[in-house]
Amino acid sequence: MYAITGITGKVGGEVARQLLAAGLPVRGVVRDTARAGVWAERGCELARADMADASALAAAFKGAKGVFVLLPPQFDPAPGFPEARAVIAAVADAILKASPEKVVCLSTIGAQTDEVNLLTQLTLMEQVLSKLPMPVTFLRPGWFMENAAWDVASARDHGVIASYLQPLEKPVPMVATADVGRVAAELLQETWIGVRIVELEGPRRVSPNMLAATFARVLDRPVRAEIVERQTWDALFRAQGMQNPSPRMRMLDGFNAGWIDFEKRPEHVVRGRVELETVLHSIALPPV
Ligand SMILES: NC(=O)c1ccc[n+]([C@@H]2O[C@H](COP(=O)([O-])OP(=O)(O)OC[C@H]3O[C@@H](n4cnc5c(N)ncnc54)[C@H](OP(=O)(O)O)[C@@H]3O)[C@@H](O)[C@H]2O)c1
Repeated sequence: MYAITGITGKVGGEVARQLLAAGLPVRGVVRDTARAGVWAERGCELARADMADASALAAAFKGAKGVFVLLPPQFDPAPGFPEARAVIAAVADAILKASPEKVVCLSTIGAQTDEVNLLTQLTLMEQVLSKLPMPVTFLRPGWFMENAAWDVASARDHGVIASYLQPLEKPVPMVATADVGRVAAELLQETWIGVRIVELEGPRRVSPNMLAATFARVLDRPVRAEIVERQTWDALFRAQGMQNPSPRMRMLDGFNAGWIDFEKRPEHVVRGRVELETVLHSIALPPV
């Protein structure tokens, strides 16, 4: 049996779909079983645990052949990342107690950098989980194509996407969450020793201008990308309700300056199959 956290989300959901399709038993680890009914209907066992609750997580991971863990997204962390640290400590404690055969942890491109930024939360997770006694794989995907969901309304209604990624012609490693979940499910079924890192990006890199052009094709209207000037970010993010915009701004700086990147040489980065156009279709023109 494979225990999957984040099953009601994008990546965890795809991990579970892939394992179920392969005829493998899945236990979905959810904080609210009422919201996971569809997974019970699909044949999953459900276990209730908040990601910061070590004993509930230990019970949820008990008896698992493999465990898939992710850090719940936290875009506005308090200084020092206390929210992530609480989850990481609970996850590590639970894995030690439940002692599954192997662990696949969703990490990120750039987890190796020393520069403090939003992704430091995943650097901290890698640092702690790499000390576990069982085999652990850190899956480090690029920027999720699904982040473009934030741009759908403005592309459709105004023909503009506001870009924090810049310059507008700079290609960024992006990947569809369907590829991330599929690869994670494949990794869970493998056998390996010790700690390994798998880096993953999509079939081709995507610049903000390419993102706009793809929106234009999907929405059948002109769409252009427009830079959001760096000096306006702090005030903009605070106006959107953020308390501590600095880690998010530093993450964007890291992508723009290139210090957030893959650690391995390009030929060792795994390539996904799902094209940006497919993802934009699904988020901009969802089936009715
Ligand atoms: N966005 C990117 O470009 C990018 C790139 C690389 C890596 N990542 C990493 O990918 C991860 C996010 O994956 P995703 O996009 O699949 O996330 P998602 O779609 O937002 O789903 C998050 C999942 O976490 C669950 N969750 C949230 N808080 C929880 C808690 N306290 N206890 C238990 N479960 C909780 C949610 O359950 P509910 O349904 O109950 O809310 C949901 O199933 C993050 O760790 C992020 O750092 C993101």
